[in-house]
Amino acid sequence: MQYHRNRRLRASEALRSLVRETVLSPADFVLPVFVIEGSSRREAISSMPGVSRLSIDLLVKECRELYQHGVRAVNIYAKISENLKDNAGTEAWNRDGLMQRAIREVKNAVPEMVLMPDVALDPYSMYGHDGIITEGKVDNDSTNDALARMAVSQAEAGADIVAPSDMMDGRVAAIREALEENNFKDVGILSYSAKYASSFYGPFRNALDSAPKDFENIPKDKKTYQMDFHNSREALNEVYKDVEEGADIIMIKPGMPYLDIVAKVREAIDLPIAVYHTSGEYAMLKAAAASGWVDNNLALMESLTCIKRAGADMIFTYAAKEAAKLLG
Ligand code: PBG
Repeated sequence: MQYHRNRRLRASEALRSLVRETVLSPADFVLPVFVIEGSSRREAISSMPGVSRLSIDLLVKECRELYQHGVRAVNIYAKISENLKDNAGTEAWNRDGLMQRAIREVKNAVPEMVLMPDVALDPYSMYGHDGIITEGKVDNDSTNDALARMAVSQAEAGADIVAPSDMMDGRVAAIREALEENNFKDVGILSYSAKYASSFYGPFRNALDSAPKDFENIPKDKKTYQMDFHNSREALNEVYKDVEEGADIIMIKPGMPYLDIVAKVREAIDLPIAVYHTSGEYAMLKAAAASGWVDNNLALMESLTCIKRAGADMIFTYAAKEAAKLLG
């Protein structure tokens, strides 16, 4: 006689929802946004269907709409013109730079929105690297000084949480210290602790024109700072260091192919975990859906739910608004 019938609790949607372990909410999402100069400008990004670069006025409008749909956090990237780029990424801490103006204006218009600007030099680097190049290498410690200045300028503009995505060693401590010294003790740090050197960032680098550039004697990839995807224990080592250095939220990136890392970090720490559903993952879903090979809405909700099930407290996703609407 069979007593254990797991199918009993799957018999109806009402029953299934009663025993459901993971439920998505629009409040789980952070939308990454790309800001450009100008007004009333919207540039579609061909590698990311449904995603556009926006001028500040349109970004403000978008943030109001997002907030109404329950998405209450944005992660901001600025696309600056090529002639403002240099090796040190100087434009990154220009008080009146595009990023700083965007933060100021959005904060002013939608003060409740959580603003999480990206901290990294790649959109500002003439070489397309997240750090300063010295003798053909990405130099760790001078980069940390630059990142600390960048973070302070974002805090000054009104950022709630700064999000270093560069993978230099010791940058969380450097940023924390600079924020404290400048009296931004309440500005938090979301650290990309376990960020892997991944091919899933391709569409994003397209969107920002931030891929490593083809210069002689300059590394063509980011493998000396981003993690090797063959490794898993190393992620814990990265996470523990960032926790010690004062990170408030830990990021793991990419998302779907790295859920083993998410589950492992979830077991190890009690800080909130963010997971990045990257541009490549988004583009793959959109391409398959456009060909009619997967159902867009079902595959999207399944993907995001599985990221949360693995242990994410929040999900960075380009589909934030779309998913929030589907959640109704
Ligand atoms: C750069 C940065 C990248 C992403 C976020 N910040 C790209 C990279 O490291 O080359 C990727 C985001 C995505 O693919 O969605 N510091």
